[in-house]
Amino acid sequence: MITVRAPGKLFIAGEYAVVEPGNPSVLIAVDRYVRVDLTPSVGKGSIHSEQYGRQPVVWYRDSNGIVVDHDMQPVDYILSSIATVEQLVSELGVTPRFYDLTVSSELDDVSGRKFGLGSSAAVTVATIGALNEFYDLELTRLERYKLAMLATIAVSPRASGGDLAASTFGGWIAYSAPDRGHAMTLRDERGVIGALRSDWDGLSVRRLAPPSALRLMVGWTGSPASTSRLVDNLQGRRWTDEVHYADFLARSRHHVEALITALDEDDAEGVKTAIRGARRTLGALDSAAKLGIETPALARLSDTAEAIGAAAKSSGAGGGDCGVVFVDVDADVSALLREWELSDIRHLALSVHPAEGGL
Ligand code: PMV
Repeated sequence: MITVRAPGKLFIAGEYAVVEPGNPSVLIAVDRYVRVDLTPSVGKGSIHSEQYGRQPVVWYRDSNGIVVDHDMQPVDYILSSIATVEQLVSELGVTPRFYDLTVSSELDDVSGRKFGLGSSAAVTVATIGALNEFYDLELTRLERYKLAMLATIAVSPRASGGDLAASTFGGWIAYSAPDRGHAMTLRDERGVIGALRSDWDGLSVRRLAPPSALRLMVGWTGSPASTSRLVDNLQGRRWTDEVHYADFLARSRHHVEALITALDEDDAEGVKTAIRGARRTLGALDSAAKLGIETPALARLSDTAEAIGAAAKSSGAGGGDCGVVFVDVDADVSALLREWELSDIRHLALSVHPAEGGL
């Protein structure tokens, strides 16, 4: 049996703007995981997961590719990962084989509600990692990220892939998304292997050092958010609000670059100032586009953290899920934890998953 696990992620800054190729963001990988176990099988493959229902999803191949007996959204990413690796394997002249995949996730709570820690991305990265071992592909980490990206944009064409990069590389990263149209053109023109070996317009991943004088705290609002709905709403707005949107992109870039500089210099005050700036920038986008990024629970989470001198903001698309807080390591956070408890905000005890491999 092959077992591969991939960490979840949190966006620290740059959300929404990062959807546009070349716009910077900062993310971390967290020490909660999706695990994929792969066992070889014969004649047909299957996907088992408690999160995706009791019955396994069974798949096989016909002359058109992978055929499935189910239509379930979370499974789409796994099937797309399988199909993308199958194309790679066929380009290499390797005979495709069958396998059973069992998925288990720590990125949902016991009742199956998602924490918003990037479970779709982590399952994609873990599936590709397992297939990399199964077929002895010896893909580099960057190639595995690119393969995960090709699989993801086949399902969600607008996804920035920041979550895939964090899950693949671990640690703290600065990330700018590739032009997804360019990546797909490379795949069509040069095949999957050619696309993996090419440079992708806009893509940039750089490792960042964690701030030594700040502690990360994560609050979970308990209400799951729909990233695709929020991103689609913004895309709908954008054409009627070009000026606001351009202003948002410029402001986001300013604060994310300030955050990256502060991290490079291990400047705790600079990190906190940049996070507060990123929160205000998302707030301005929210008022212009009426997206509902900062829900009342996320506002409370951040306001109570700011009241004790910390910096805080929603993480990811907002609309629910988690908020991140950066507080001085020696600060007393007991009053903040009490406030959160009174407001039904759950403190998730998370640490950063360590950086893996070179970039
Ligand atoms: O809600 P999350 O954690 O999946 O993050 C979404 C972040 C966006 O920038 C809004 C979308 C994206 O694809 O990066």
